[in-house]
Amino acid sequence: HRHLLGIEGLTPPEIVALLDLAEEAVDVSRQVEKKKSVLRGRTQINLFFEASTRTQSSFELAGKRLGADVMNMSVGSSSVKKGETLIDTAMTLNAMNPDILVVRHHAAGAVHLLAQKVGCSVINAGDGAHEHPTQALLDALTIRRHKGSFNELIVAICGDILHSRVARSNILLLNALGARVRCIGPSTLLPKALDRLGVEIFTDMKAGLADADIVMMLRLQRERMDGSFVPSVREYFHFFGLDQEKLDYAKPDALVMHPGPMNRGVEIDSAVADGAQSLIREQVEMGVAVRMAVLEALASHLPNQPSFA
Ligand code: CP
Repeated sequence: HRHLLGIEGLTPPEIVALLDLAEEAVDVSRQVEKKKSVLRGRTQINLFFEASTRTQSSFELAGKRLGADVMNMSVGSSSVKKGETLIDTAMTLNAMNPDILVVRHHAAGAVHLLAQKVGCSVINAGDGAHEHPTQALLDALTIRRHKGSFNELIVAICGDILHSRVARSNILLLNALGARVRCIGPSTLLPKALDRLGVEIFTDMKAGLADADIVMMLRLQRERMDGSFVPSVREYFHFFGLDQEKLDYAKPDALVMHPGPMNRGVEIDSAVADGAQSLIREQVEMGVAVRMAVLEALASHLPNQPSFA
């Protein structure tokens, strides 16, 4: 593939190959000398139209660890503020001959559209409520390191599924690798077509968490709610916030995940987020490794001829 636009379109062997490559990147990242040279001389531009802490910084570190020149385009102080469109912004950067564009945008489909216009490889770093493929890959890597295999593993994805690109990409990936995926949330935050994605649906945490191996919590994305349904924080935490009492409904060796950013006391209790069953910090480490793997996999598809030859 020349681009990574979503988990949709990847085969199970391709997903496993990326996870294996990421495993090697974990080793590289734990050495004193963290550099490889597969992207030496290449240019990577990170173009984020939405806020990010983890994804943008880990893509920057990943590119640098592979030897690329990495530029972070600061959209807040760019000519987007003067009305320049997504496509004009991307074409302007494309004219500077980057090899890879890493793009986050608030509109579902925007990254696909952009990939059709530019001449370089494009990586989706999150598009609206559509896909966040590198998040699903880093979650899968974290799960595989602890549970070994995905076969028959019960993964409960909990909370605001409706607005979550993380949930969508995780459902696609986990189903592809043989896990059993459950979605738990208030009916108002479950998308109508969810049953078509091959998941079990629950509106009650006790029933949904029973026998779960992995409990994946999602942030309540209040910025994407149009005001028609914004739950009160106290009520939401009471019914859907993960505290130790609710976590005890899952298997005794269940592990807790959250893609971040977390809203402590809204969807997750601090004691659980920082507790012995939490993988949240390890997910961040795996984020750098997975992004190195994705960049390295795309590197073999980058043209070897100068674009003006
Ligand atoms: N998980 C995730 O995408 O975090 P950021 O929004 O901080 O990049």
